[in-house]
Amino acid sequence: MKIACTGRSRALGARIAGILGAGLVETRTSRFPDGEMYLQTGPLDESTVVVGSLLSDDSLLELLLLIDACNRSEVSLVVPYLGYARQDREFRPGEPVSARAIARALSAGVSRVVTVNVHKESVLSHFAVPASQVTLEAEIGDFIATLSLRDLLILAPDRGAAPFAASVAKRGGWEADHLEKTRISGEVVRMEPMRGEAWKGDVVIVDDIISTGGTIAAAARMLAGRGARGVHAVCVHGLFAGNARTLLGSAGIRELAASDTIESENSRYSAAAAIARALSR
Ligand code: R5P
Repeated sequence: MKIACTGRSRALGARIAGILGAGLVETRTSRFPDGEMYLQTGPLDESTVVVGSLLSDDSLLELLLLIDACNRSEVSLVVPYLGYARQDREFRPGEPVSARAIARALSAGVSRVVTVNVHKESVLSHFAVPASQVTLEAEIGDFIATLSLRDLLILAPDRGAAPFAASVAKRGGWEADHLEKTRISGEVVRMEPMRGEAWKGDVVIVDDIISTGGTIAAAARMLAGRGARGVHAVCVHGLFAGNARTLLGSAGIRELAASDTIESENSRYSAAAAIARALSR
């Protein structure tokens, strides 16, 4: 078995390869004069794990070309961050179910799909091949335990993320709670105070995705105003769109951490072991 990665998932692919004792396939991309993408891989084995997060339209194309380049091999596809998953239904007439379109496209030429903390589990049913997700609550809990925080509360920014926060909190035996979030626009959210008294200790806000940072920034400002000692944020997928890092810094977030499903300076813990376990099953 060999591991072939897209350009944006090289570090995670190498970690998965290290855990599985598999070789890495060299891949390179360039552009034809008209702008079309060109891709070439090195020698493959009978089975290949293709690893590539869906971060942009180019990364989708790279993933499709890489899967096709591996067509003489049995392909297991790992999509650590499955972009477009948030458009998981037709919110307004005439919209596509983008998650379905992506899942259908990625099903061709692969025998199974593994992803990480997909935004809605129902998206997995759109794949035409067996698809599963691994979830990183235990990894997040283990990472938080390294931060030496005191009187810790694990907080979900909305009701939907409450089970996720509860699961992270259980890992370390910490308290968990959630806020009530109302989204005003793509960038602006309003937070209602949490239950009970203001938390005077450290708070770690956990979420599956940080995109614009608006959700976490609104929560952090409210918590700081209510007397929290330190506010930190840990997510699975750190998209950090636009000026998200600046926004979160100015909202007083001290530790800003994400996994390596999207590789960046904030990748402080890894999804590799969980993915390797799923591939070994
Ligand atoms: C929403 O349901 C997600 O779980 C995240 O809370 C959301 O994607 C975060 O977006 P942003 O960082 O743009 O507020």
